[in-house]
Amino acid sequence: MENKISEGLILQHIEGLVKDEPNWIANLSNAAALLNESLDQINWVGFYLWDEADEELVLGPFQGRVACIRIASGKGVCGTAFEQGETIVVPDVNEFPGHIVCDAASQSEIVVPLIKDGKAIGVLDVDAPVKNRFGDAEKEMLEAFVEVFLKYA
Ligand code: SME
Repeated sequence: MENKISEGLILQHIEGLVKDEPNWIANLSNAAALLNESLDQINWVGFYLWDEADEELVLGPFQGRVACIRIASGKGVCGTAFEQGETIVVPDVNEFPGHIVCDAASQSEIVVPLIKDGKAIGVLDVDAPVKNRFGDAEKEMLEAFVEVFLKYA
């Protein structure tokens, strides 16, 4: 895997960061920063969180260029992964019907839903400036990453 540090270290690091800190925004912010500094060849990493009142995903803590703020459930890669409650790996964003362009540099993408107590509460979105950046290894790692920090949410 093209990461700067091993999966084990990333998981250990996120657990250490969030286990004694109850503030959700602080933990999401550090999670985005940790992934940004740990993964090679990415250009955007961050969260969209479900807004109960507006019934839309709304931009949360992230690292990268300014991004679109609101995404409806079922729209784009984020809204689709959220609606289905399943990780979506997109090897080439140009091939994903309805893909929402935020940073024109993005070529491939992975979106992992955040599921807390059986309910989808948002998504983790990672974009890469190269095609085929994410495969099974990255899917497993990011799902494990999300599981660790959701344990303390
Ligand atoms: N590409 C995403 C939108 C979010 S940005 O990539 C940060 C999508 O299609 O849902």
